[in-house]
Amino acid sequence: MRIHPFVHTLLEWYPRHHRDLPWRNTNDPYIIWLSEIILQQTRVAQGLPYFLKFLDHYPDVQSLANAPIEDVMRLWQGLGYYSRARNLHECAKMVVHDYGGTFPNNYKDLLKLKGVGSYTAAAIASFAFGEQVAVVDGNVFRVLSRYFGIFTDIATPAGKKEFETLANQLIPADVPDVFNQSIMEFGALQCVPKSPDCLVCPLADSCFAFINNHVGDLPKKEKK
Ligand code: ADE
Repeated sequence: MRIHPFVHTLLEWYPRHHRDLPWRNTNDPYIIWLSEIILQQTRVAQGLPYFLKFLDHYPDVQSLANAPIEDVMRLWQGLGYYSRARNLHECAKMVVHDYGGTFPNNYKDLLKLKGVGSYTAAAIASFAFGEQVAVVDGNVFRVLSRYFGIFTDIATPAGKKEFETLANQLIPADVPDVFNQSIMEFGALQCVPKSPDCLVCPLADSCFAFINNHVGDLPKKEKK
């Protein structure tokens, strides 16, 4: 697919606005995996000290796999969603024992790891290995639904599929990693959930939601 103006604008916005975050300066799948597990359902400000602490205690997947689970759980204290810590440890052991200590290097195989779903597999595959596979998280749902005017419920399997398909059509072959970081960062900093400042948004003049006054209605998520 030819580069969409939406993508062009995002890629121009990113270098001027992004935060300097430690897991962005590496291609190491272990470091990227660790950061993405910690950041699930967690804000960057809360997750960052845990990320640094874990990397300090366990600089590689072998040291994490060899650690007693009690130590891992203790280090995770305060972060919540404790199944993530158990899965983290299980996954590290899996990489060491089933994959010889080397993370799988593609989306399809990454999905087989404990605790690694479509989002995390796409993040590792694109950031560590440059695979052209789109991440779809809450930020991506928000940015795409508003810009393209998609009212499909994001909480349904069909909705998830629709957004994944669109994101995978948009992602450029030459810079899939930068595109993924850009769209997530744009959702985190500019196209925020509540009262985004659309007056300074570089996408506003072609954004469906801004033009049609639907910013507050998107993304659609039916209350359960
Ligand atoms: N939240 C989840 N993944 C992230 C990433 N790679 N950068 C910033 N925030 C994130």
